[in-house]
Amino acid sequence: MVTSRFTKRRNRNYARVPWKVTHVELHRLASSLRRQYLAATHLHANLRIDPSVDIGRGFQLWMPDKGTLEIGAGTELRHNTYIEIYGDGVVRIGRRCTCTYYTHIACSTSIEIGEGASLGLSTVILDGNHRFRDVDTHLLDQGYDFRPITIGHDAVIFSNCTVINSVGHNSVIGANSVVTRPIPPYCIAVGAPARVIEYFGPPEERSPDIPPEVPSSWSPSNGAVRA
Ligand SMILES: CC(C)(COP(=O)(O)OP(=O)(O)OC[C@H]1O[C@@H](n2cnc3c(N)ncnc32)[C@H](O)[C@@H]1OP(=O)(O)O)[C@@H](O)C(=O)NCCC(=O)NCCS
Repeated sequence: MVTSRFTKRRNRNYARVPWKVTHVELHRLASSLRRQYLAATHLHANLRIDPSVDIGRGFQLWMPDKGTLEIGAGTELRHNTYIEIYGDGVVRIGRRCTCTYYTHIACSTSIEIGEGASLGLSTVILDGNHRFRDVDTHLLDQGYDFRPITIGHDAVIFSNCTVINSVGHNSVIGANSVVTRPIPPYCIAVGAPARVIEYFGPPEERSPDIPPEVPSSWSPSNGAVRA
């Protein structure tokens, strides 16, 4: 059969239809059903998930008590995001955040994630630390130490990080890091424990907590540049 250029282009366009049905339309429908299911099964708690939030496959919420979960418009919870909220814990995730696959958030006090923050693959954020120094008592009977956590707006946590302290706005945490101390805004921090290796914000906003030997890559004309 002879096909014109026009027919070929039309066929190419139709070829994407099954993909759009499964990956876009059904995905949206499934996300909406998941949100409605969560609302119906958490009448005992405070759940505010904006209708535009994309709730991916395998999302799980464990909120047995009167906790609070708020998720702002346009946020994406990709496959297998897991959020645990105990007691009257509060998790607030701002607008336009991204939780990449297998993000795990466990909260008993408060975890606030600012607008536009991005959490990479397998990010773990915890506000609780087991007590373990009493050798005569089993770990699970010793209780926890808690610390509320804040992830600033537009912060980026790359893959496989564990976050047990706060991260300032616009800061970037390198892959495989463990955040044990607060990271000020506009910093790149890497390692276990995460240490600040670069400051890329405006000079007047540089935190005194950043060691003086850490280089700054700010340029007034262009914003942040690599030194
Ligand atoms: C190891 C751990 C128990 C230490 O707790 P701690 O005794 O309170 O120790 P501190 O917070 O005082 O930290 C002591 C030093 O070790 C560093 N440190 C702590 N945890 C670290 C970790 N996991 N990796 C690398 N360094 C770590 C701290 O940065 C600190 O060094 P610094 O003062 O030079 O910054 C704790 O940090 C941890 O890893 N908790 C795990 C939380 C968790 O996974 N919970 C899951 C619950 S199911």
